[in-house]
Amino acid sequence: MFEEITKQIKEIKEIVVVTGAGVSQESGIPTFRGKDGFWKNYNPMKLATIEAFYENPKLVWEWYNERRENIFSAKPNQGHKAIVELEKYATVTILTQNIDGLHQKAGSSNVFELHGSIMKIKCTVCNFKSSQIEKFSQIPPLCKCGNMLRPDVVWFGESLPQDVWKNAIAKASQCDLMIIIGTSLVVSPANTLPIYAKQNSAKLIEINPEKTEMSSKMDLVLRKTGAEILPKLISIFKEN
Ligand code: OAD
Ligand code: ZN
Repeated sequence: MFEEITKQIKEIKEIVVVTGAGVSQESGIPTFRGKDGFWKNYNPMKLATIEAFYENPKLVWEWYNERRENIFSAKPNQGHKAIVELEKYATVTILTQNIDGLHQKAGSSNVFELHGSIMKIKCTVCNFKSSQIEKFSQIPPLCKCGNMLRPDVVWFGESLPQDVWKNAIAKASQCDLMIIIGTSLVVSPANTLPIYAKQNSAKLIEINPEKTEMSSKMDLVLRKTGAEILPKLISIFKEN
């Protein structure tokens, strides 16, 4: 099976890599729904919705501050690095649900952050946005306009940034190969990206130690971790 798909991979020019929390798991960042995932211990409706934010902004800010510290000290793993190397062999676009910035830290040049970034903030009311995260003297910090600032991430019930999502659909619809790594594919609309790729007859490869909602739709499923298998997958391109 692996051999079979590798023959086809050699002809591939446009690659879209869809990533989720699992790709950063080996960098020490917990997933959401995995064994030690955040949503096993916390209720997402109390931390990752605008309603939760208005109910308890301090709690939400403190949770994101804690996560930001963890993320800030995290380093890209062999999986992130292999994805960077892939750029030597094909046009690569990364569509990530992660807010950790590790693909960019690793050196990937074409990353779309579908769910925003933990390193950015925005105002809840006006158009103010910033990537200047400082030690705020009060939590929640306030915007110059007097309203609360919030992390510039996408919460449950919110739409993805329109331009980012439009580009993501366009890229997914044009690719020859989609590699889907470390996502449970339960969160919409990111979980529709493989469908767009399939409509273009792209090959789908899933890298995930566990079965997902869409495993049966994949051309190849690799039940390994990102850091384990991605460097091996890249070596196929190298050999060519
Ligand atoms: P999940 O936690 O739902 O899924 C992580 C997936 O990664 C699981 O399928 C694991 O089996 C897999 N996994 C774990 N370790 C891995 C490893 N080392 N290598 C490869 N795969 C591994 O995370 P996401 O699918 O990213 O949104 O979750 C999607 C969205 O739901 C997140 O962006 C976040 C969350 O709630 C919001 O907060 C709005
Ligand atoms: Zn404002």
